[in-house]
Amino acid sequence: MGYNPRMDSKGIHFQNEQFTLIHDDVLTTRHVADNSVDLVVTSPPYNVDIQYNSHKDDVSYADYLEFSQKWMTRCFDWLKDDGRFCLNIPLDKNKGGQQSVGADLTTIAKQIGFHYHSTIVWNEGNISRRTAWGSWKSASAPYVIAPVELIVVLYKEKWKKTSGSKVSDVERDEFMDWTNGLWTFNGESKKRIGHPAPFPIELPRRCVKLFSYVDDLVLDPFCGSGTTLLAAVTNQRRGVGIDVDKNYCELARKRILGISHVKQS
Ligand SMILES: C[S@@+](CC[C@H](N)C(=O)[O-])C[C@H]1O[C@@H](n2cnc3c(N)ncnc32)[C@H](O)[C@@H]1O
Repeated sequence: MGYNPRMDSKGIHFQNEQFTLIHDDVLTTRHVADNSVDLVVTSPPYNVDIQYNSHKDDVSYADYLEFSQKWMTRCFDWLKDDGRFCLNIPLDKNKGGQQSVGADLTTIAKQIGFHYHSTIVWNEGNISRRTAWGSWKSASAPYVIAPVELIVVLYKEKWKKTSGSKVSDVERDEFMDWTNGLWTFNGESKKRIGHPAPFPIELPRRCVKLFSYVDDLVLDPFCGSGTTLLAAVTNQRRGVGIDVDKNYCELARKRILGISHVKQS
């Protein structure tokens, strides 16, 4: 199915042989089949009051954890038994009260049934400048903030991949570099991409090449500007993205089809 600019209602926003964009809510969409996905790579909303078009990003921490439990359960159902889940989340939260977000979401994922594999620490070079010091030069109440994010790597049933093409395309140097779980590269510019919280393509590119086979199906349930799908289709995988905001789906569609070797339909 091609692009229909008059289609405002929720549902399939765009689909071709390489990728599908679903304009829908991850909690209720019926457009992804159970046991169909090889790899999820995603960065959910962080609940840090980012101004998204269609999502309120400053709910209570309890509500945020409940939302996280619900959408991760959906991903669990969508993954194949040997499917993997790369979850890009903050290590912790400082605004509006300190919280161990990374630990809490990892615990919830395990309660859902995910198995833990490892955690990659992303050292984000150009993270925004510090503003909160707590008690400056005093032990009374200082703040400690690590300029990193996490990519928690989990899987559904078994770590060893048994389904798919069995074709890996990760190079020797990439494999050696990326299996060291400290990744260092810059974040992405919001202005350049036109989305309030994009991740750099290097993040899904590494996850896709390291954790999936050629032709695998890669899902991003919070696809935003389509970075994960772009990494998937430019590395000979198929992509599915969901976003609750139609304008972000359209941004993703244009961005992915802007790559010349991607088939347009
Ligand atoms: C952190 S951004 C993801 C950005 C993406 N990684 C990129 O590179 O552009 C989170 C996205 O989740 C979307 N979102 C929020 N709530 C959602 C929901 N319930 N269902 C689907 N998408 C949702 C937002 O519209 C936003 O685009």
